[in-house]
Amino acid sequence: MPEPITIALSKGRILEQTLPLLSPLGIEPLEDPANSRHLVLPTSDAGVRLIIVRASDVPTYVAYGGADLGVAGKDVLLEEGGQGLYEPIDLGIARCRLMVAGHPNAELSGRRIRVATKFVNITRQHFAAQGRQVDLIKLYGSMELAPIVGLADAIVDLVDTGNTLRANGLEPLEHIADISSRLVVNKAAMKLRHRELKPLLARIAAVVAAR
Ligand code: ATP
Ligand code: PRP
Repeated sequence: MPEPITIALSKGRILEQTLPLLSPLGIEPLEDPANSRHLVLPTSDAGVRLIIVRASDVPTYVAYGGADLGVAGKDVLLEEGGQGLYEPIDLGIARCRLMVAGHPNAELSGRRIRVATKFVNITRQHFAAQGRQVDLIKLYGSMELAPIVGLADAIVDLVDTGNTLRANGLEPLEHIADISSRLVVNKAAMKLRHRELKPLLARIAAVVAAR
């Protein structure tokens, strides 16, 4: 029996929105991933298993061959660079936007501003492309707090409904990128396991296209 194909997913919205793409293919976890503490989950297809990792670790697991496939937000791929990966399918799930946000009417031009974010590479590139210099403050979450307490003039974060910004008296100011989750594939696996992966990718693409 060959090693099962390993798919890296993160708990939360990626897991919740990826499972419905896999179940039409007969791939369902044998235990409830939301409640299980297991990090390796066999599925109803003996040839496929899931591993559960942090969202921002998915590209690393796939690039280094810890998983053959993974599902990662485009935000994570842009921030990490996405080297060593193929990115063949836009799954169209976990859609949101990467935005600069801040207090309404915040004056962000004409001076050097401080921007708090966990997306430091994307943020640097966004402002550099406009010839604007900013001081970056790296945070790991709850970015919305930074302008409220005067830590930063603006933030770069993901926005979906805008409810989190509104609840904290902030608003979106500049659009950076539309985001959705992508299927990523280990480059060596794509060659070495082509016979197994090609039909699997085709079936996933068909489920996505049929939505
Ligand atoms: P980590 O655990 O590594 O900090 P995380 O907490 O950002 O990651 P999630 O909140 O599950 O993990 O987000 C996973 C992906 O879902 C993000 O990379 C992004 O692509 C997308 N996403 C994040 N927030 C939203 C949102 N509010 N609406 C839709 N998609 C979102
Ligand atoms: C994400 C993101 C924003 C929020 C935006 O956080 O970091 O805070 O969603 O969504 P909205 O525009 O619909 O309010 P999430 O809910 O994933 O919490 P997290 O900070 O734990 O990742």
